[in-house]
Amino acid sequence: MLPNAEPIHQSLELCVERLGDPAPLIYQRFFSKYPNAVELFGDDPDDSIKGHMMEKIFMLLMELADGSIKPRFSAFWVADHEVWKVERAMIFDMFDIIVGTLREGVGDAWTADMERAWQDLIASMIPAINAGMGSASGDDSPEPVAPPQPRFQRWS
Ligand code: HEM
Repeated sequence: MLPNAEPIHQSLELCVERLGDPAPLIYQRFFSKYPNAVELFGDDPDDSIKGHMMEKIFMLLMELADGSIKPRFSAFWVADHEVWKVERAMIFDMFDIIVGTLREGVGDAWTADMERAWQDLIASMIPAINAGMGSASGDDSPEPVAPPQPRFQRWS
């Protein structure tokens, strides 16, 4: 288990205890920033596609924290998403929104260790996200973005 794992697990448990399932709030925030992303999910009247995706996102984050998968695995799902017209900025913003929602859900129990663990975890995927985004569409893919500054203060 990596040193990040405990604060990551703790923050998720506390958030669910205090806020319940964070997925609806996360999607609400994501779609208010990217209204055009709604149609990318196609016909999803009961939100099951979105619900399943959020479960997989949290599974990915926990497996990364545990060290049971490597950050470079993300290049694969990112390349799939590029084909589906998901933009690089949407991916970074989704993680930003997830961490912000957890921070808010955990509230006054949020610790500096949790903040550091989440920032390190997301930062560890940046090279793979940039690589995955470049790989699907050939020459006309956008320039890789520079590693962002810590972006996880937005919802505080
Ligand atoms: C905006 C339009 C998007 C669409 C249409 C979309 C669609 C999908 C679909 C259909 C899946 C497969 C889910 C399943 O196995 O049931 C998936 C998985 C996933 N999506 Fe998205 N997605 C979108 C945005 C995003 C964003 C912004 C992120 C950023 C975090 C993301 C991260 C993931 C991850 C990590 C998985 C799981 C990959 C795996 O473990 O195989 N998606 N997505």
